[in-house]
Amino acid sequence: MVSADFSVNSGAVFTEAIGNDRLDLLTDYPFTRLANLLAPITPRANVAPILLTVGEPQHTPPAIIEETLRASASGWNKYPPVGGTPEFRAAAGDWLTRRYDLPAGLLHADSSILPLSGTREALFMLALLAVPTRKAGRQPAVLMPNPFYAPYEGAAVMAGAEPVFLSATRETGFLPDLDALTPDLLERTALFYLCTPANPQGAAATPGYLAKAIGLARQYGFVLAVDECYAEIWLDAPPAGALQVATALPHEDGKPWANLLVFHSLSKRSSAAGLRSGFVAGDPALIGRFSRLRSYGCAGMPLPILAASTALWRDEAHVEENRAAYRAKFAAAEAELGGRYGYQRPAGGFFLWLEVGNGEEAAKRLWAEGAVRVLPGAYLSRSNPGEPNPGDAFIRVALVQDTDTVAQACAAIVRILG
Ligand SMILES: Cc1ncc(COP(=O)(O)O)c(C=O)c1O
Repeated sequence: MVSADFSVNSGAVFTEAIGNDRLDLLTDYPFTRLANLLAPITPRANVAPILLTVGEPQHTPPAIIEETLRASASGWNKYPPVGGTPEFRAAAGDWLTRRYDLPAGLLHADSSILPLSGTREALFMLALLAVPTRKAGRQPAVLMPNPFYAPYEGAAVMAGAEPVFLSATRETGFLPDLDALTPDLLERTALFYLCTPANPQGAAATPGYLAKAIGLARQYGFVLAVDECYAEIWLDAPPAGALQVATALPHEDGKPWANLLVFHSLSKRSSAAGLRSGFVAGDPALIGRFSRLRSYGCAGMPLPILAASTALWRDEAHVEENRAAYRAKFAAAEAELGGRYGYQRPAGGFFLWLEVGNGEEAAKRLWAEGAVRVLPGAYLSRSNPGEPNPGDAFIRVALVQDTDTVAQACAAIVRILG
């Protein structure tokens, strides 16, 4: 089986920088770095590789997908509209209203939702929407948790902003400490990416935390982007959502979601990473501007995929099955790990975030001695001047394989790392 982390595209063909030199501020993508790290290592013979790097659930995707794709095949020869179909927007809006208990009739799907061909591309494009030339007379800042989903950094840098990495460690509850943000930084902040449940640590923001973040966005005039792509993979209780929290806050008449955008995806909820399907919802003023930008730069979601996505957002049965599968996997992992590596049961998501001393060395040993492929935490984080990289000591283990394989991998981790 080929995994996305095997691609190697280090960009080494260029002898000197050509084109946009901002690109040189970025490292290779985490999975490219991993491929390079592990390329010289051949795992011990006779052990089947276990791939736990990419957040790509290997569950069988729901049958709804094939059925609806077949039934709507006549749409393949049409360019899809940027805004998708009214049916898709209504299904996404109804799901948001159900999932987050929004007041009936509050969400106007046609002005508050845009389909996305996977949220990654739109999280990236968002920086082009949100980052002005200057903010408070200075270079704009884009805030993100540290560790973070790599496209946030890429987006900030390519939009000409300064990426600001906010430590999200055990000491801060694995989310950025909002009280530590200074007015000086907030004044030049154009965009703040928050991820809840967080990738990789699985921490979920409380309503109080989200309310504070929304308040800061309004006070300082920046866009708050809440990446909720793991919102449906939870263990004990459904995590709060930012739209829900904003609805209950004091707001200007008719503008409950000012400054706020949330991102949702079917990749994890429906084990359908290959469908490339998600949506962004929130502030109609921002959605309108995003729609204009996306008319120039996005591919649009094909009509058959819109139809399949519409059906998926209307179905909960497959999502409940999915959650049950993850609960079983976490139980199996916990039984093997026995509280080692500072493991904390996450609120959501499907990652183990394990403190193993040196994440890169651990990843190499696990591949060499057990053919278990995991991601060094440092590839998901950056060090701020004078501070250690908060991911250095960690590995991220994605529970994307079946329960037995997860148990086998965790047993190997304990055997090899001790
Ligand atoms: C935190 C986070 N956000 C967004 C995405 C993107 O998901 P997609 O583009 O498949 O919707 C991922 C995928 O791994 C993720 O981990």
